Amino acid sequence: MSWWKTAAIYQIYPRSFKDGNGDGIGDLAGVRAQLPYLADLGVDALWFNPWYPSSGADGGYDVIDYRDIDPEYGTLAEAEKLIAEARALGLRTIVDVVPNHISHLHPWFQRALEGHDRDLFWFRDHPNNWTSEFGGDPWTQLPDGDWYLHLFTAEQPDLNWTHPAVRQEHEDVLRFWFDRGAAGVRIDSAVLPVKDPALPDLEAGRPHPFVDRDELHDIYRSWRRVADSYEDPRILVGELWLPDAARFARYLRPDELHTAFNLDFLTCPWDATRLRASIDTTLAAHAPVDAPATWVLSNHDVTRVVSRYGRTDTSFSFGAKKAGVPTDLELGTRRARAAALLACALPGAVYVYQGEELGLPEYEVPTDAIRDPMHFRSGGVDPGRDGCRIPLPWSGGSPPYGFGATPTWLPQPAGWDGLTVEAQDGAPDSMLTLYRSVLRRRREFSGSLRWLDRGVGVLAFARDAGPVCVVNLSPAPVALDGEVVLASGPIEDGFLPVDTAAYIRIDL
Ligand code: NOJ
Ligand code: CA
Repeated sequence: MSWWKTAAIYQIYPRSFKDGNGDGIGDLAGVRAQLPYLADLGVDALWFNPWYPSSGADGGYDVIDYRDIDPEYGTLAEAEKLIAEARALGLRTIVDVVPNHISHLHPWFQRALEGHDRDLFWFRDHPNNWTSEFGGDPWTQLPDGDWYLHLFTAEQPDLNWTHPAVRQEHEDVLRFWFDRGAAGVRIDSAVLPVKDPALPDLEAGRPHPFVDRDELHDIYRSWRRVADSYEDPRILVGELWLPDAARFARYLRPDELHTAFNLDFLTCPWDATRLRASIDTTLAAHAPVDAPATWVLSNHDVTRVVSRYGRTDTSFSFGAKKAGVPTDLELGTRRARAAALLACALPGAVYVYQGEELGLPEYEVPTDAIRDPMHFRSGGVDPGRDGCRIPLPWSGGSPPYGFGATPTWLPQPAGWDGLTVEAQDGAPDSMLTLYRSVLRRRREFSGSLRWLDRGVGVLAFARDAGPVCVVNLSPAPVALDGEVVLASGPIEDGFLPVDTAAYIRIDL
């Protein structure tokens, strides 16, 4: 069985994981020092958000040089050591690649500014009616009168994927990291790189000029050939924001990407009917292409899960994000604990975003400390994504909580002393202890999923092997039969309380 089909993958946001040299910024030395923590957590692989030189215009998603490490994080030699050390502990490494755009400081764009090889990008003498993914105009005019396209910030010019050099360069970059032991790549904004070359206005009823274009499949097929050319084949993981499950699954055909993030599950509200529908749709869409599903509760772009589940609206959407939403963290944490059992029992791979295992809530960063361009491009309406990117609390009672030195690059809130690794390590009821247990238990599951009927509002299912998973999203406790092997909260007189999940052994 290929490891990636059932892997638990831990997402590292390098800037906020651990600061090894005391400048308030996470780095590779910090990650290397904490590899035993990650191995002990029970994950199989690490996915690193971009660690390349960048001007930081979009949290590293504005890459200046794909073949190096940002000096704030360390050196290429250190990255090579990290990959090898992690592998020795049983942890594979997945790196991020960003085909849609590069940094405005990348040599290609610098040359384009001087008037050379502008066809590597999208330069035009007039803009069109498109909107940036971050809001506002995706066109910026240069002093010479030409406009260039950037679906994100102005510091992230979009590449022209009809240009052979763009294709060649990305395949070389894949080989560069695969040759250094990377087990795979996570592909950023994977449905956006190809544009209709005429750059027509966006019009209802006409094919979308830049989302999910058919020409993308040929690109990913050639990436797959690169990945498959290695003795230990490398994997391609797509970030595909696509509401249509059938269109999504086309990217997972056997000669394209291996897996993709389940963003439908990630945005799904805490509701039994909706969650079951999301799980069923996911499994049904993956079955014909024989690709494993993935289960994702959060990442570096979305509201922390304990906060999301503690609100009246427990779904996630970028459009609805706002500051100051009343949040019941006790409720959210109870549900997030139950969700961890759910996600880890489902067939396929699971992702854990750093800090999820500590139950970190979203932190509303003071306005003057906000860094995220999403906030600025929305005219301050969107609070931005900094709140889920706060430096991790490792130990101690006040900032920097053992992260490194103060000031940390984003401020940490007061009151996280109970959420540090130190405080949670070995504590029987902590989120960290739960994650360690659930990630271990997860290995007992295999085979397909069969729903069991435990009443309205209760998600219950069996796999071919492993315990039965029961999640109570109904308004009342439900009676449990069988032996409880793991629960997300206390079982009361044989009843599974509201917003609680359990793995049970039972003769079916
Ligand atoms: C998706 C990434 O996850 C996000 O953080 C980034 O801002 C955009 N793609 C643009 O690269
Ligand atoms: Ca540092």
